[in-house]
Amino acid sequence: MRIFFLGDIVGPSGCNVVKKFLPNIIKEKDLDFVVANGENAADNGVGITEKISNELFQCGINVLTTGNHVWDQKETVEHIEKEKKLLRPYNLTNPAPGKGFEVFVCKKNFKVGVLNLMGNVFMKKCDDVFIETEKFLKNYNLKENYDFLIIDFHGETTSEKMAIGHLFDGKATLITGTHTHVPTNDARILKKGSAYITDSGMCGDYDSVIGMDKDNSINKFFKRKAEKHSPSLGEGTLSGVIVDCCTDTGLAKKINSFIMRGVLQNTF
Ligand SMILES: [Fe+2]
Repeated sequence: MRIFFLGDIVGPSGCNVVKKFLPNIIKEKDLDFVVANGENAADNGVGITEKISNELFQCGINVLTTGNHVWDQKETVEHIEKEKKLLRPYNLTNPAPGKGFEVFVCKKNFKVGVLNLMGNVFMKKCDDVFIETEKFLKNYNLKENYDFLIIDFHGETTSEKMAIGHLFDGKATLITGTHTHVPTNDARILKKGSAYITDSGMCGDYDSVIGMDKDNSINKFFKRKAEKHSPSLGEGTLSGVIVDCCTDTGLAKKINSFIMRGVLQNTF
């Protein structure tokens, strides 16, 4: 069983590189289940539309996760109620439309749980992610409620991501961070068998400031006249991790970064 997690898909550059290359990667790498964070996939780089989520599902993504930008396209409030494959952070303060956790059946007939969490440090207000994680773990167990569990932890700080990683060690197949749009070089198997990476990176144009137009971003930092952020439109890089999983335990055997195309291509 082989899982692919793709980091935040940002704007047209991110969508294009994923749509163009993912179908072949799925065949070549024999991937069984693909999850991607899609909360920046809209043309303006914030949120996701129904049309774009459908295009991403069509090219082979099984589940899309989100984060702080989940409601930035107004239509998502309604769309997420009908689309089970689109998740929002589990620990949003209720009531919130949609779901943050769901179990899917993959092509090999295994049950794959996907949990989308959001951090509390330097992020929009949401329920305490550690308390919600503790409650989740009281109710759900690997190999009882699902064969594999993939966690997208959408957060800003490396420390918070690592702490959540250790909390789920031995209880999830993969814990990956998202949101910083920069891939980290710390993919590894934790002590109790879960695959972990602090951030899977971004699918988008890295000749930018985290996917957004670099000159405009610099002007903003200088507090000069600047436009609203808009996605950088150069060639996109596809960035994520591939995890080989043990079907008996639901834990990970191997995790590798997968980075191709665009200005960041160097590890594949
Ligand atoms: Fe984010």
